[in-house]
Order: sequence, then C-alpha cells, then structure tokens
Amino acid sequence: MQHRLMLKNVFVNAILCLSMASTGFQARAEDSSGANSMELRRIMQDLGENMQTVTDGIARENWALIKETAPLIADHPQAPFSEKIKILSFIGSNVGKFRGYDKQTHQAARDLELAAMKRDGEMVIAAFARLQNSCLACHQSFRKPFVEHFYGQH
Ligand code: HEC
Repeated sequence: MQHRLMLKNVFVNAILCLSMASTGFQARAEDSSGANSMELRRIMQDLGENMQTVTDGIARENWALIKETAPLIADHPQAPFSEKIKILSFIGSNVGKFRGYDKQTHQAARDLELAAMKRDGEMVIAAFARLQNSCLACHQSFRKPFVEHFYGQH
C-alpha cells in the first residue's frame, strides 16, 4: 500500500513536470462523439451510464446491482498518459481543485457501495445525492472551458 502510494506520487510529479514543459498544444475533434473525441469523454459517458444503472437499482431496490455498479464509478478508468498531460497542462494551477472533485466522486461512490451492502435505501439515496453533487461541481467549474479548449466549441 505504502509502496503503491509512493509510486503514485512519483507518477503525479512526473506528469506535473511534463505538463509544465508542454504548453499550449491542444487536440481538436471534428465531432463531439466521433473517433476523434478524447478518452475522457468516453470515461464520462460510462460514468453517466453507470449512474443511470444506479437510479434504476434504487427504483427497484436492487441493492446488489448498486453494490456492483458503485465501484465502477469509484474506480473509473483514467485517461491515457498522453491525454493526461494535455489535460493537466490545460488546467494548470487548478489541478488541486480538479483532483479534489475527482476525489469527492470517488469517496461518494465508495459510500454508495457501503450503503448498498447494508441494504439501507435512505443511506443509498443520500450517498447518491452526494455523488451527483460531486459530478455537478466539477462540471460547473470545468466543462465549458474544457470543451471550448479541446473541441473548439464556443
Ligand atoms: C474532476 C472533474 C469531473 C468529475 C468529478 C466528473 N466529470 Fe463528467 N465531465 C468532466 C469534464 C471536463 C467534461 C467535459 C468533457 C467533454 O465534453 O469531452 C465532462 C463531461 C461529462 C459528460 C458528457 C459527455 C459527453 O458525451 O458530452 C457526462 C455524461 C459526464 N461528464 C458524467 C459524469 C458523471 C456521471 C460524473 C460523476 C459520477 C462525472 N461526470 C464527474 C469532468 C468531470
């Protein structure tokens, strides 16, 4: 665990150095859902689908479904290295904020999993609301500038 954490820190530092060295390049996509869109968008679309699965699980009181879906949200894949560099280069000094929102999403999804294991419907809904708030908070801060920058939509 300690070892993994250390490796992670080394990795993050390496990315930060690289992102500082590489300024101002951007990926352009011809259409928003096509082959040229960024991996981050695909990751987000999967998150959206998994959230819908959870909503359905709540309606059906299918706690097992929620229990198996929540970790897919908590441990969603990360963008590939080269894309991460572009993203970090773009968000620059807001990196702490960006990672903070991602952490909140992770934590709320973990709480959701625990609540589902307890088969506690109200706790599930409370954790789900917190989860949705974490998505929204990041989107309110980052979505518009992100889409403008990487997809050139104004
Ligand atoms: C750390 C920041 C961050 C968090 C947390 C986050 N998102 Fe996003 N999300 C983004 C950004 C940036 C975009 C814009 C990316 C784009 O349009 O390519 C986005 C876009 C999306 C989209 C639109 C994709 C499309 O096809 O246009 C969906 C759906 C989405 N997010 C779902 C979620 C869900 C569900 C959660 C929470 C479980 C979540 N996101 C949490 C940053 C975040």
